[in-house]
Amino acid sequence: MDPHFTETILRWYAENGRDLPWRRTQDPYAIWLSEIILQQTRIAQGKAYWEHFMERFPRVEDLAAAPEDEVMRLWQGLGYYSRARNLHAAAREIAAMGRFPSTLEGIRALKGVGDYTAAAIASIAFGIPVAVVDGNVYRVLSRHYGIATPIGTTAAKKEFTRLADSLISSDEPAAFNQGMMDFGATVCTPHSPACMLCPLNRSCRAYQDGKTGLLPVKKPPVEVQERHMTYVYVRQGECTALHRRGPGDIWQGLWEPWLLADGESVPDGARAITKGFKHQLTHRTLYADFYLWEPAVQPALPEGYRWIRESDLDRYGKPRLFERLLEKIR
Ligand code: ADE
Repeated sequence: MDPHFTETILRWYAENGRDLPWRRTQDPYAIWLSEIILQQTRIAQGKAYWEHFMERFPRVEDLAAAPEDEVMRLWQGLGYYSRARNLHAAAREIAAMGRFPSTLEGIRALKGVGDYTAAAIASIAFGIPVAVVDGNVYRVLSRHYGIATPIGTTAAKKEFTRLADSLISSDEPAAFNQGMMDFGATVCTPHSPACMLCPLNRSCRAYQDGKTGLLPVKKPPVEVQERHMTYVYVRQGECTALHRRGPGDIWQGLWEPWLLADGESVPDGARAITKGFKHQLTHRTLYADFYLWEPAVQPALPEGYRWIRESDLDRYGKPRLFERLLEKIR
């Protein structure tokens, strides 16, 4: 609760809100359509598409009845085509229901509608006081309230959603949400925000502390680490040597061939099957050298390794990388 903040946003929106065609209607279908288009498209581009869709499909039943091809053709150029397929599927659901869902949960259940879009439609079309939370909202709130929680984290989503829900006007949720969108897009912009003209500058923590450039805080990008590994596949008669990976690293509990330790060298007589073989994990890129070694007499194995029959390899849980390497010698 912060009546000063809420009232300032509402006043600012009344005076400066953008005049957009879907803001002149109360039709949930028209509003839903605008929100789907605006998910990944700028207003300047999305406007013409919204107008074409509304002209060709004035009611949700018209969209539901259209052939998929035609919907896709009309969507052409907007990108992210799954939006169009979801839009069409949802139109059929809505037409089958007989009316547009009028609760937050009902709206959220539509194909292609996430938390943000559900809140936008619920507030704009039905006056439900639920706040939209997107990049604009994070930015405005993190600056105004001096919140340094890194955005992109679940903690931030929770914290900012709670805050925005506490600030939204219950009388004018649509104006508040769209005010936040427009205010973030035109005044409290990512770079060089218009603080001198900002009606909230006196209560803005970031502005007062000279920290607008430092907020919002972004989540540090996940470091993609690189790792080089050298494997020696030992083949002795019908057997090969494996060991089971321990805790504290990738692939705990899975089996792999002889992994050379730092400083350990490839035995004489081993031949290279592949070098620098790239294998992508979520946060790591691996590069593997893979050797095949077929010694005449059974060598002593490093600690923790055991001989198994090659014909039993299928029974051992293996990292995908090992399976890919095995394909090269099978
Ligand atoms: N972006 C997403 N929805 C919007 C809306 N209703 N108005 C302005 N920008 C938006």
